[in-house]
Amino acid sequence: MNETEFTQGWVNGAIIAIVVINLLGCLWLLWWTRKRPEDSVAEGESLGHSFDGIEELNNPLPRWWLNLFYLTIAFAFIYLTLYPGWGDAKGLLGWTSTGQWETEVEKADNRYNRLFEEWAQVPMAELAGNAEVMKTGQRLFGNNCATCHGSDARGNMGYPNLTDDDWLYGGSPEKIKQTLINGRAGQMPALGPALGENGVENVTAYVLSLSGRSGSGDAEAGKEKFTMMCAACHGADGKGNQMLGAPNLTDDTWLYGGSESTIMETLNQGRQGKMPSFKDQLSPEKIHVLSAYVYSLSN
Ligand code: HEC
Ligand code: HEC
Repeated sequence: MNETEFTQGWVNGAIIAIVVINLLGCLWLLWWTRKRPEDSVAEGESLGHSFDGIEELNNPLPRWWLNLFYLTIAFAFIYLTLYPGWGDAKGLLGWTSTGQWETEVEKADNRYNRLFEEWAQVPMAELAGNAEVMKTGQRLFGNNCATCHGSDARGNMGYPNLTDDDWLYGGSPEKIKQTLINGRAGQMPALGPALGENGVENVTAYVLSLSGRSGSGDAEAGKEKFTMMCAACHGADGKGNQMLGAPNLTDDTWLYGGSESTIMETLNQGRQGKMPSFKDQLSPEKIHVLSAYVYSLSN
């Protein structure tokens, strides 16, 4: 027996004793007042006390009223025995607060599961128009996705904005669902060494030119390298490839940043953005609702 067990045993015993003494005390009080001490005065006669003209007569407590008191005391003993009322002893009914909580959670789960099953039958594009369901979607998003994508889903460096219509992997409900089920792993290789001395600067200048800007390198020379080393993934026109999650480099939406120095960093170090898979964490029905929610953000 360690120290806490010892003190708990002691405290339990003391509390049981206090409760029993109190209940027996009530019983004794009832018994003690059952007969008036003024037995010299006949029943129904005045005891000689008068309050504002109201006289106190020598009447016993009504029987039914007294019995009610005995009943409450008996009830206290029965209640404390059925429910875990005596120290840390389990009640005869086996009730526990955890057990009650679990039953309630199970009931709620059953109710929500039924709702989710209904929603899963509705096409995602249609669900996206249902404000009630989207509220649930928003809650799911807050619990599972906001840490990375932000509670407003606008993302952050390395975490894509999900509210615009610029997509790495595609913004149809089915593509979004695929992303949630299987996760995604962006693979942008580190190409610094392969591009050589001025290669990084030149290609960066070319990438900048795709969105109407210029850099310190030679964009013409960069274009040649781009066709050789980048076009396979980003496309000959630099507009990207959703099969590979290779971003469009011609717009002004950037996952990691579009400044000259950030693009050079991307080329030198590579980028490996990782979107986790949720298939073990969320039921297919929840993923269905969440995908509809993400779809609704830009549609
Ligand atoms: C641990 C961080 C993290 C969490 C949690 C996370 N994501 Fe992502 N998500 C990412 C990253 C990083 C990417 C980009 C992957 C890449 O660069 O290829 C991404 C990509 C996506 C995309 C693809 C966007 C596009 O442009 O094609 C969608 C859709 C998405 N996430 C939705 C969600 C949803 C919905 C949740 C919640 C269920 C979620 N994410 C949870 C990090 C996360
Ligand atoms: C094997 C395919 C592949 C090749 C080859 C490749 N990239 Fe990428 N690139 C990607 C992918 C995938 C991403 C997104 C990485 C992520 O999601 O984390 C990316 C990201 C980028 C980004 C960041 C875009 C942003 O929005 O922040 C730039 C810039 C970029 N690539 C330029 C290039 C250039 C220039 C080359 C050639 C020198 C090149 N890439 C070669 C696949 C590739």
